[in-house]
Amino acid sequence: MSKTFYIETFGCQMNAHDSEKVIGTLEHEGYTQVSDETEAGLILYNTCSIRDKAEQKVFHRLNEYKRMQGEGKKFAVIGCVAQQEGERIFDRAPYVSIVAGSASYRNLPTMLARLEAGESRITGLDDRQTDQTFDTEFTVRSNPHRGYITIIEGCDKFCAYCVVPYTRGKERSRTSASVLVEAGRMVEQGYTDIQLLGQNVNSWRDPSGKLSFAELLSAVGTIPGIKRVRFTTSHPRDFTRDIVEAIDSTPALCDHVHLPVQSGSSSVLRAMSREYTRDWYLERMSWIHAASRDISITSDMIVGFPGETDADFEETITLLGAVRYDAVFAFKFSPRPNTPAVHIADSIPDEVKTERLRILNDRQREIQREHYARHLGQTVEVMVESFNPARGQAVGRSTQNKTVNFTLADSMPMPTIGSYLPIRITRTMPNCLIGEAVAGSVSFQATRQPQPFVVLN
Ligand code: 5AD
Ligand code: SF4
Repeated sequence: MSKTFYIETFGCQMNAHDSEKVIGTLEHEGYTQVSDETEAGLILYNTCSIRDKAEQKVFHRLNEYKRMQGEGKKFAVIGCVAQQEGERIFDRAPYVSIVAGSASYRNLPTMLARLEAGESRITGLDDRQTDQTFDTEFTVRSNPHRGYITIIEGCDKFCAYCVVPYTRGKERSRTSASVLVEAGRMVEQGYTDIQLLGQNVNSWRDPSGKLSFAELLSAVGTIPGIKRVRFTTSHPRDFTRDIVEAIDSTPALCDHVHLPVQSGSSSVLRAMSREYTRDWYLERMSWIHAASRDISITSDMIVGFPGETDADFEETITLLGAVRYDAVFAFKFSPRPNTPAVHIADSIPDEVKTERLRILNDRQREIQREHYARHLGQTVEVMVESFNPARGQAVGRSTQNKTVNFTLADSMPMPTIGSYLPIRITRTMPNCLIGEAVAGSVSFQATRQPQPFVVLN
């Protein structure tokens, strides 16, 4: 087998970052990444199973791989569908050699050695047994300015609809010291923007007992050279007031909290086992609204959870107005294998789910149209991400994670990707801001050029 590999990645930021760690591990084991699957000796498929018929999509893709098996290629299915389907993958796609969930990635070197020794049906299905984290110094980050650090893996919350506790194993945190060492190293390498990751990032508890989550945020945010620190995804249960205080008092902590509510109805929240009520959630919103900084709030929502009535759904709609989110990612409920909700009848017809989703998205769009207008005339700092020469525009991201499309005056030098620029906002849209660079304002120059991101679905 040639020691070249191709990796395809689906799913959340955790998965994207896992792939960066897997790539680093493979390279350390002497493999070379290629950008064309036809050139690869080993094809890895990092999968997601959060919604819809994820496993069917995976088997469909594996069928496409099948035609390549005669070329001597090897295949590995990793990530959440791998953990969920386990050895069934070998039964349906016998040409697959490795099936491994994320809780087993630290064993990848051994799995690779077994593959090279000619073994097939190699599994890494540690499931909820492991209390180890996948810390590696060999991470190959795909962007040289903005990078992820996983601070907590797995999940112990067991929301009724969610596969994650079954696919990513039990909750386990890294020590504050190891997070700070990794962050410090990244800053030395030129990173200015760090995103702390976890399925429930704010459930992080320092195994060494030194820092609270809010203190960890402040500690990362005060590393000299750091410009931006984000964290995602937070769970309302563990969202404490000191997180808002940390944002208020630490300039590098971004003005953004992603706090998925899932539903505005307390009875649906109870059925979902979210373990908070609408009022509990709104109290946390009031802390954020009372902050001295304009902290942008975003959320995830599920419509059509079994038993959701019109009145329940109406409570989700009124919550949108009460919170005034800057973005909402809304999904139709889909039953997932192993989850408690799979045993309740999926009682809401698909047409009703579709209609509720449309109503929610329409209402949210109206709110964003009004709410984004607050930025008109403001000067916001963006990190430059890309250029669109056809439109004569550059694209950046604000501290609130908003996309800002902007033009430069003719006399201005082209900013480099990864630099920070103040932009005066001249127009607002429901999903982005439009503006112009403020003259003479190149505030920070980064010099390294980015590599492409991994492809997400
Ligand atoms: N059906 C629909 N949406 C889901 N999510 C998680 N599980 C399901 C499911 N079974 C959504 C939640 C979560 C986001 C990542 O995906 O809103 O916050
Ligand atoms: Fe998909 Fe959830 Fe797994 Fe992320 S943790 S890859 S969203 S199933």
